[in-house]
Amino acid sequence: MPHPELLARLWPASALRVTSGDLELRWIDDEILVELAELAGRGIHDPADMPFEHPWSRGTADEVGRSVLTYQWSARTQVTRDRFALELAVLHDGRPVGIQGLTARDWPVLRSVQTGSWLGREHQGRGIGTRMRVMALHLAFDGLGADEATSGAFADNPASNAVSRRVGYQPDGAVRVARDGVAVAHNRYVMSRERWASLRSEHAALLGAPVAVTGARSFRTQIEGATTER
Ligand SMILES: CC(C)(COP(=O)(O)OP(=O)(O)OC[C@H]1O[C@@H](n2cnc3c(N)ncnc32)[C@H](O)[C@@H]1OP(=O)(O)O)[C@@H](O)C(=O)NCCC(=O)NCCS
Repeated sequence: MPHPELLARLWPASALRVTSGDLELRWIDDEILVELAELAGRGIHDPADMPFEHPWSRGTADEVGRSVLTYQWSARTQVTRDRFALELAVLHDGRPVGIQGLTARDWPVLRSVQTGSWLGREHQGRGIGTRMRVMALHLAFDGLGADEATSGAFADNPASNAVSRRVGYQPDGAVRVARDGVAVAHNRYVMSRERWASLRSEHAALLGAPVAVTGARSFRTQIEGATTER
């Protein structure tokens, strides 16, 4: 990227970083995006499963990769005062392995962040999904001053449900969602700011390395205007 400092001033989201040990969450530039698109094309889940409401992960490798490109290119513009879709690359030892998203609507009023994520299949089942969720919570609560974080997963997605439970979310009921023309239970989870604060030592143990957020103060000027300390 030729002008990172200039971009950081104009678009503070581009300078956000969350690091912990060998994992990093960061803004998705085009170089990283192409690698993520290629990774997704190699597979995110068993073809018989569908973890997403919109089945973007089904198709040829190039179709799936193209879905990642178009979704991420459109998400880039969705960082405004009031609402944001913050899509962050997950880097393991410097290599892109997946995406951790944080979205919010009516942010100044609700201060509620919803998370969503995926990892390339070859990177799943090694604890990365759990660690990146803890890092996303750290960004939400400590970096952005959220009051609440929510997540959701289809009942037939054991890994995603396991991550939410292990990280300490509280179950928040289930809704029926139309997926591939069938009504499927979608579990909801919630983490309050108070609960997150009470789980600090558990989260430190899950991470196994200190977590650091950079660029949050500047990012908050992008989504809130003048920064209010929380
Ligand atoms: C969901 C996802 C991000 C989790 O990341 P991950 O690195 O695989 O998760 P972790 O290794 O940190 O933890 C996975 C947990 O799921 C459990 N798990 C995985 N597959 C399971 C299965 N088939 N049955 C039961 N538990 C399972 C693991 O045992 C582990 O739980 P534990 O720590 O209590 O033992 C990743 O699997 C993924 O990208 N899946 C496809 C896309 C997706 O589902 N995205 C979320 C949409 S809501």
